[in-house]
Amino acid sequence: MSNETNVTWHEHRVSREIREKKNNHKGCVIWFTGLSGSGKSTIANTLDHLLHQADLQSVVLDGDNVRHGLNAGAGMLKDAHGDDFSKRFGLGFSAQDREENIRRIGAVAEIFTQIGVIALTAFISPYRTDRDKVRNTLREGEFIEVFVDTPLDVCEQRDPKGLYKKARAGEIKGFTGIDDPYEEPTAPELVLLAAEKTPDILAVEVITFLKDKGIIH
Ligand SMILES: Nc1ncnc2c1ncn2[C@@H]1O[C@H](COP(=O)(O)OP(=O)(O)OP(=O)(O)O)[C@@H](O)[C@H]1O
Ligand SMILES: [Mg+2]
Repeated sequence: MSNETNVTWHEHRVSREIREKKNNHKGCVIWFTGLSGSGKSTIANTLDHLLHQADLQSVVLDGDNVRHGLNAGAGMLKDAHGDDFSKRFGLGFSAQDREENIRRIGAVAEIFTQIGVIALTAFISPYRTDRDKVRNTLREGEFIEVFVDTPLDVCEQRDPKGLYKKARAGEIKGFTGIDDPYEEPTAPELVLLAAEKTPDILAVEVITFLKDKGIIH
């Protein structure tokens, strides 16, 4: 018998509805997607701060941080004897690794949604199919895809981590927007013009959306 058939789903005793009632808002995933430097982390953190101030339950899952823990990469996974096993489980930036990165984050975000938390994710998540797969793990209306629409030239000018410079110099291969594709969302719930408006204004745009949809009051 395969392992799969021996794993059964266990119903939770504390239902999602009970948690949402206690929180006085619904759980959802706000999935920021956009080029590096577009402003995903900045806006997600601004929004998180506003939600926290309003006594709402939120969490930020951020690209770089997750790649230090849950989705650590080459050289970062060592067993008790110091042997590196990141070749088996570590994630890099190939299309397959990016897919697995997003799948794991989607699964974590889905758990937060289940416990009535507003999960804010800030990943480039360049491939449409990977984002759609996460959308399909959630109920209708729970996956809010937010396209942080900042033109490549603006992102490259900002270059807060100096990554574009390195990518242009050939020091980083497969960099999204330079020598790896970014697939824009075709029907995002929200588009944020982050080259034209401040992070504060954009965070409020998301809050307005959440209120319109009855996720928060
Ligand atoms: N309207 C704006 N919204 C967001 N960020 C802005 C805005 N205007 C300027 N910035 C600046 O642009 C940079 C965006 O960087 P940020 O780290 O948020 O991007 P990111 O999309 O998370 O990139 P990465 O995918 O590399 O993590 C920051 O230095 C931020 O201060
Ligand atoms: Mg970021």
